[in-house]
Amino acid sequence: MNPLKELHIEMIKQDFPILNQKINGKPLIYLDSSATSQKPKQVIDAIAEYYMSYNANVHRAIHTLGEKATLKYEEAHEKVAKLINAKKEEIIFTRNTTESLNILAYSLGKNITSKDNIVVTEMEHHSNIIPWQQLCKRTGAQLRFIPIDREGKLDIKKSPIDKDTKVVSVAHVSNVLGTMNPIKEISNIAHKFGAYCIVDGAQSVPHLKIDIKDLNIDFMAFSGHKMLGPTGIGGLYGKKEYLKKINPVFFGGGMISDVTEQDAKWADIPNKFEAGTPNIEGAIALGEAVDYLESIGVEKISRYNKDLTQYAMKRLLELNNITVYGPENGDRIGLISFNLVGIHPHDVAQLLDKEGIAIRAGHMCAKPLMRTLGISAVCRVSFYFYNTKEDIDSLIGSLKKIQEVFK
Ligand SMILES: Cc1ncc(COP(=O)(O)O)c(C=O)c1O
Repeated sequence: MNPLKELHIEMIKQDFPILNQKINGKPLIYLDSSATSQKPKQVIDAIAEYYMSYNANVHRAIHTLGEKATLKYEEAHEKVAKLINAKKEEIIFTRNTTESLNILAYSLGKNITSKDNIVVTEMEHHSNIIPWQQLCKRTGAQLRFIPIDREGKLDIKKSPIDKDTKVVSVAHVSNVLGTMNPIKEISNIAHKFGAYCIVDGAQSVPHLKIDIKDLNIDFMAFSGHKMLGPTGIGGLYGKKEYLKKINPVFFGGGMISDVTEQDAKWADIPNKFEAGTPNIEGAIALGEAVDYLESIGVEKISRYNKDLTQYAMKRLLELNNITVYGPENGDRIGLISFNLVGIHPHDVAQLLDKEGIAIRAGHMCAKPLMRTLGISAVCRVSFYFYNTKEDIDSLIGSLKKIQEVFK
């Protein structure tokens, strides 16, 4: 079946109240899901239900409300774990991808010395560069980059991974180029040299069927708000044996098994990494988001998004005076960055907003990549399964109008 006909989008859209509105007198077309996805009412209702019927702290209370909140919070770990084929105790709830990567940079950083190097890629979001830069500044280690080729794919042959590499941390899907990176190949190289392989899954977990065992990775960071969940909740997957071995970064209540005046022992994983009262309603609502994704089918969502992205690519390439970044075919999903020759991306985004079309414009939190590409900003359109071919057609029509205005 044609993947674009596999989903009942009109029915799905009814679950997203925000999409049913006009912006500047035009029906809203939301093409900014890579920044944050919209939320179905099931997720919004889960937050309200928590506060209206069982608001209580977790892992403490013996009363009914506390037991229900704890059960639902624990269930959320299980749901997220199942989504990526991990074990429940391998999922730590954090605020977002950024916090997950910072936790790793601190925790793994304990054993890094000035003889070591850390490897990232030229296409990373600042979240997967700055924590490692800071670690390198603290330890004297070197930060190295896997380069990209002309098409916007990683040039693995030029990988700087060697026997002194301790960490390889790579985006699964680039938030600028849309490129899907060959994670298995990279994790094999990292492991051959005894380095940890970390994946920034911010742009992949919302779109791809992830199997962390098959990918053979050690850690993965992701954000709930990009996969239908609320803001302020994210995840860090870690292989059980490593999570048991490495040290926590935040200390306090909820993460200990015993405390004396001068010392403390840590609780089992994942609690060891979840100090203080967690984002309970966020975790429960993320669990609901996972249920929603699975009720539609992650593989179907993936096929739909790939096809929609290919359709958008084909239509964008029909325009004159456009530069599109990243691979034109195949190995990409979910988003496309481009520039219209002679028109600043901020102008494009502002004029599209007048037509009710929401896109992102700017450096995409990837300034090193912008420098590599020789530009300072791009326009980025990004899709989720509530978008349609008609949304893309409206975008193309509006872009043509903008080009006429600037002629
Ligand atoms: C590839 C990638 N990594 C990391 C992040 C940071 O995500 P968050 O702001 O949710 O921490 C983003 C956000 O856009 C991203 O696209």
